[in-house]
Amino acid sequence: MILGIETSCDETAAAVVTHDGEIRSNVVASQAELHARFGGVVPEVASRRHLELVLPVVRQALGEADTTLDGVDLVGVTRGPGLVGALLVGVSAAKALAWSRRLPLAPVDHLHGHVASLYLEPEPLEPPFLCLLASGGHTLLLDVRARGSFAVSGRSIDDAVGEAFDKGARLLGLGYPGGAEIDKLAREGDPEAFSFPVARVPGLDFSFSGVKTSLLYTVKKLGPDELERRRADLAASYQRALVRALVERTEQAAELVGAERVAVVGGVAANSELRASLPWARAAPLPLCTDNAAMIASAARFVEALPYPRYLALDAYASAA
Ligand code: KG4
Ligand code: ZN
Repeated sequence: MILGIETSCDETAAAVVTHDGEIRSNVVASQAELHARFGGVVPEVASRRHLELVLPVVRQALGEADTTLDGVDLVGVTRGPGLVGALLVGVSAAKALAWSRRLPLAPVDHLHGHVASLYLEPEPLEPPFLCLLASGGHTLLLDVRARGSFAVSGRSIDDAVGEAFDKGARLLGLGYPGGAEIDKLAREGDPEAFSFPVARVPGLDFSFSGVKTSLLYTVKKLGPDELERRRADLAASYQRALVRALVERTEQAAELVGAERVAVVGGVAANSELRASLPWARAAPLPLCTDNAAMIASAARFVEALPYPRYLALDAYASAA
């Protein structure tokens, strides 16, 4: 079995997955509440919390899988991209655990991890497919030809769509992380009440830095009382704009590359309107959309693992090369 560890942002996660892609356990300790009062992730606070949580979370994952390190023959860990201090906690823990048992270690790219959330049982997806990866850190259109690799067809030239959700939620006075809050409130609102234009950039790229500015102006113009009264309409309209932009580009890309199948992964893939707007696409299972370690263990199956003790010098990286 594979032990997966993920600490790239504000989730401390560990999971046990078989080489056949069956999830035996998937433990996620979210730090969201810890960062909520700052309105976003504070890197130093995240690192410290990862340090406290990583071993208890690993222990819990092994326990829930009804196994010990004796049952593990490979350790997979997120190496980047993400907060480098946070990543280093997971990488160090993975090195120590693997070294103690002379196990190989598979360094996993977080984005490959999100795509690999589609390769798990009970319904593993087979490439080729076009993949929309929409998260707090990235918005990408990926041409996936084989497990373990992809080519980037389009990307956000500025903010990630999850960032647009989070910043929008903040402007609306909702909690952190904002995506799920907007999703919930939008159900009570009118998505046609306001118009928030999303910039269209050339090619298959995205741009989400402008749309929050139009939300900001609308919120300012309305004033606090009207904001209170129209909050659900604002959330619904804002979400509609973001989802439309994602769907439009994805459909365009699918047509352009002649993709027969389309998949959606990443935290924003949990969005109910996005899932409903792409009924023909395969969305990652809900618990595997936001950061988790099952997807990292899954991806570990498709990278070249470093044999003991070569990984001792392994480093984390903050952004993709
Ligand atoms: O994949 P993820 O957990 O972390 C990154 O790799 O970035 O994605 C987190 C992002 C956050 O921006 C969060 O607001 C967003 O996913 N998110 C959602 C929903 N649930 C999480 N956005 C829209 N609707 C949701 N239901
Ligand atoms: Zn992620």
